[in-house]
Amino acid sequence: MKFYVRTYGCQMNVADSNEMGRHLKANGLVETQDPEEASVFLVNTCTVRQHAEDRAFSEIGRLRHWKTKRPGRKIVVTGCAAERTREYLEDRFPFLDLVVGAKSIEDFSQMAAQLLDRRETDEELDYAVPSADDRISAFVTIMRGCNYSCTYCIVPSVRGREIYHSMEQILGEVRDRVAEGAREITLLGQTVNSYRHGSYRFAELLEGVANVDGVDRVRFISPHPYYMSDRVIETMAEVPEICESLHLPVQSGSNKMLRQMMRNYTREQYVSLIEKMRKAMPGMTLSTDIIVGFPGETEADFRLTLSLIEEARFDWGFIFKYSPREGTPAASLECLPQELIEERHRECLELLDRVALEKRSKLVGTTPEVLVEEDNFGRTRTNHKVHITGNVAPGEQVRVRITNAQRATLQGVIENGNITFENFREEDSRARTGAG
Ligand code: 5AD
Ligand code: SF4
Repeated sequence: MKFYVRTYGCQMNVADSNEMGRHLKANGLVETQDPEEASVFLVNTCTVRQHAEDRAFSEIGRLRHWKTKRPGRKIVVTGCAAERTREYLEDRFPFLDLVVGAKSIEDFSQMAAQLLDRRETDEELDYAVPSADDRISAFVTIMRGCNYSCTYCIVPSVRGREIYHSMEQILGEVRDRVAEGAREITLLGQTVNSYRHGSYRFAELLEGVANVDGVDRVRFISPHPYYMSDRVIETMAEVPEICESLHLPVQSGSNKMLRQMMRNYTREQYVSLIEKMRKAMPGMTLSTDIIVGFPGETEADFRLTLSLIEEARFDWGFIFKYSPREGTPAASLECLPQELIEERHRECLELLDRVALEKRSKLVGTTPEVLVEEDNFGRTRTNHKVHITGNVAPGEQVRVRITNAQRATLQGVIENGNITFENFREEDSRARTGAG
């Protein structure tokens, strides 16, 4: 029996989908990339913006037909929209077999076993093979939920308050992923750097994960600026496995907007934080999330966001049009006209693209190390995607000469064949002390 997974939304959801996929495989199912071959269709939904939810719902609507084409087919809907709108979903789509909200993802294995009328055993779990796309670079969820209450955000209400996995559980999962072939671990959490468990804080966890045998690279998403302590920065700078790349959502360049969003930092604090980090990690890349058109955003506020993009020189980022979410504090505020939001979105995106491309074109001629994830595709430590010309296999680390920089990817050719990881380390630490 085969299953097909469609994932909407953030990396947290991708990680949840991978985890659910592992449970389905433990029940003897095989993943397919073709919905027509599948007997189980899993839709992992997102509700962070209305658009994401609408897309998932229209897909679920179309599945009515998919289900009737072959007897015994099952549809499972999971994730944040399932949490937020369970009753509505069950009402509007009575043909669904299982709805699992984001807060109950950890009970998925039991529910799926019931649905499939199979029993999952530890022995069977050993046979679970991860899909190719998350083999070399694996996600590990370290916490769920969020204790912040940014006024636009639905996440705290659908995912609940923060719950942290224990250090042992996380390290165990890291070892499992490494045993399956992973070389790079990305730690996941809604405010990943607020992690705490017993006496452990995020910095200790980072170090612990980096020290697991076979882990060559460590990343994490998404940190909150408030928790980006000196201790975390020092750890990032000192521990060679931790990559010098950061996705640090800023949301706006205007202090007035940041206050109204309840982000708990000012533009100046954000800028001095990234300056400190760049000093500690020369060559660090920085990406961000920005929301345009939050209620009350004036032209002057918007200009401040544009000027922040120039000042912070982001390497890439995501610009979101504000989307009111029912039940959030900002939902009661008057929305800006949609055309204005569209216009600001366009302008912001154009500027970000320009800044990003300028930075990226400076990489032409450099020779970063690339961890190959798929045939001819890999990423640098700084998280640039690289298409590689030459013979490489997933899991290899190669030095690549960058020949061309495009909007989303770099092109490169292999330099001097493959080199060992030890060589990287030496050159890396030289680069990090500022000599490079
Ligand atoms: N409208 C638009 N963007 C949002 N985000 C979160 N909630 C909303 C919303 N209501 C964006 C933020 C966050 C990213 C994951 O999604 O920028 O960092
Ligand atoms: Fe949402 Fe803010 Fe929590 Fe991020 S920190 S998940 S934006 S409430």
